[in-house]
Amino acid sequence: MVKAIEFRDNRVIILDQTKLPFEISYIECTDYQMIAQCIKKLCIRGAPAIGIASAMAIALGAQDIEAESFDEFVLKIQPIFDTMLATRPTAVNIRWACERMRDFLNLHREETITTLKDLLIEEANKILQEDIEINKAIGKWGAEFIKDGDTILTHCNAGSLATGGYGTATAPMIIAKEQGKNIHVIVDETRPLLQGARLTAWELIQTDIPVTLITDSSAGALMRQGTIDLAIVGTDRTTKRGDVANKIGTYTVAVLCKENNIPFYVAAPLSSIDFSIEWGDLIPIEERSPQEVTTIGGKRIAPEGVNVINRAFDITPSKYVTAFFTEKGVFKPRDLKKLISRDIDIDSLRLKPYEKVR
Ligand code: MRU
Repeated sequence: MVKAIEFRDNRVIILDQTKLPFEISYIECTDYQMIAQCIKKLCIRGAPAIGIASAMAIALGAQDIEAESFDEFVLKIQPIFDTMLATRPTAVNIRWACERMRDFLNLHREETITTLKDLLIEEANKILQEDIEINKAIGKWGAEFIKDGDTILTHCNAGSLATGGYGTATAPMIIAKEQGKNIHVIVDETRPLLQGARLTAWELIQTDIPVTLITDSSAGALMRQGTIDLAIVGTDRTTKRGDVANKIGTYTVAVLCKENNIPFYVAAPLSSIDFSIEWGDLIPIEERSPQEVTTIGGKRIAPEGVNVINRAFDITPSKYVTAFFTEKGVFKPRDLKKLISRDIDIDSLRLKPYEKVR
């Protein structure tokens, strides 16, 4: 399994995804600012992975803090939180990871500063390990919705590279294959930065899952001719009513699925659900450099002076989502908000396998 990030010997080791699939090289981050730069430049990307990277940045940055008291330590660690929260705005996982590290810190206020520093590393590593387990659970639930012989469309990269391991959208595919189902994955290029072509295709080839690459604009034609049985994508942030922020182009895929009666599933760990907001339009959408659109692999493809819109993500309203694959089961969008309530009968909310939703 590909490892996107690791905390080792007081360094955070990041696989440089901007170089894939041509070069496997690692960046050894020795301070938190380097990790923040890696997130901004997409050397590490994908919502859960940048959440993990932020937790590791907090743990790494904490090692350099000199403080006599807990309050002084908290004061000095604040700029690290601020830096990580300012890296990318859309994925809620960064905020989630920062809140978790902050709560953890407050719970351990009685410890010595030396112990606190060790505990923060342990907690960041725990977030990574838990993420892998969460993805396996998403995979187990989601695989029930994949039939032998299915062709699955995915968009962008919601695989191992985007998480601690296994991926969110790819976990059900991996588990369906382990269950002996013959599946085929169609991955679209995902312009402008080609996460589908460069990353998802590369990952799936390594897991021996048959994969076919298409241009972004081919999905509709393939759906119309009956080639695609279902779509599974990831999410950077999903609101409590089930509106989904994900890589630009996800909305197009979702609308095409609806038009062609194809189930559209979103693999969403609970850390990607923002229970504090109702509507997708409240999610901040990252705008990236025009250069990402006017060039491919550093080569200019558009005339000088052209105007560019380069939104990194779009919003898919919940009405287009057939169901969410989460670590707690598979749920209809309208039931997502019930997952944080203490007294729900989760079994009664869980969707049963594909016969019922197709
Ligand atoms: O800009 P990116 O490459 O970070 O965008 C990533 C995505 O859109 C993923 O689908 C999303 O983060 C989910 S990853 C499990």
